[in-house]
Amino acid sequence: MKDAILTILRQAGDYLSGQEISRTLGVSRTAVWKAVEKLRQEGYIIESAPNRGYRLSQATPQLRLSEILAHLPPDYPWRNSITFFESIDSTNSRAKAMAAANAPHGTVLIADEQTGGRGRRGRSFLSPPGTGVYLSVLLRPDCVPSQLMHLTCATAVAMCDAIEEVAHFRPGIKWTNDLVSHNKKLAGILTELSLEAESGQVQYAVVGIGINCCQEERDFPPELREMAASLSMIAGQTVDRNALAAAMVKALIQMDAVLLTNQSAIMERYRADCITIGREVSLRRGDTVRRGRALDVDDNGALVVQFSDGHTEAVNSGEVSIRGMYGYV
Ligand code: BTN
Repeated sequence: MKDAILTILRQAGDYLSGQEISRTLGVSRTAVWKAVEKLRQEGYIIESAPNRGYRLSQATPQLRLSEILAHLPPDYPWRNSITFFESIDSTNSRAKAMAAANAPHGTVLIADEQTGGRGRRGRSFLSPPGTGVYLSVLLRPDCVPSQLMHLTCATAVAMCDAIEEVAHFRPGIKWTNDLVSHNKKLAGILTELSLEAESGQVQYAVVGIGINCCQEERDFPPELREMAASLSMIAGQTVDRNALAAAMVKALIQMDAVLLTNQSAIMERYRADCITIGREVSLRRGDTVRRGRALDVDDNGALVVQFSDGHTEAVNSGEVSIRGMYGYV
């Protein structure tokens, strides 16, 4: 009933009388009024005016499946494969469990909160409710792992596209997988692969993305404030999380369509977004720290670094972590 009213009000785009809504849905005007009240409690701004009826002026800031779907065309691929969780331990962990139970390519999991969000290198990823979008997608590409070296990079470019669409600015990429703006981290990506032991083929990949969308500075714990920001903080206005989640799904579908056939073109776009190229970096491998200058990122996503003795090396993201010379970026 509530969803039906939302659909009708969205289609109308203007005031619609309570009488017309009740006639269309075959319910009483009191039932319409009660449903509108419930929607208001859920954060929708629905104006009402005597003799004119109701008008939807702002959608809810809550992340909801029906709102995400409202931003995707009816016959869109993966549309019926989206599962939404108000709270979950980790969308990546759940996606892997679903993969083990034969869930298909294109299964998408979106959560409002993660209680055990995971980052790279065994770190945790802070995922409080009401502010971010935490999304994982299960992919089953028919290939070997060496053909997927650029998967995290491709995802980073796709997420820059999604953010640009809804927040109207394009973040940079800190090699390999952090989206940044104004020297602060906006989003992280965690890619996990499962291989078939006998053939060495990829069984599945789970790509997880966490984006800080609506936090204000005070929402971050003090120790993260120097390093983290949200899309709304950078855009200077509220960014709609439901529109963002839908844009993420669309960008992932586009990425998936060309992932195995357009590696060079994808990496060309990655290089254009990557802010690490040209910078002094320090590379940590275990306890050893080496300094050098990032010259390039190759088509497999490795960072080409020139060290102080003049020699260059392509370093892999799995082997090292980098820091800029003057802080997080
Ligand atoms: C990082 O910055 O180190 C990567 C963070 C990846 C976080 C996302 S949120 C959705 C998915 N589920 C997880 O547990 N992690 C990823």
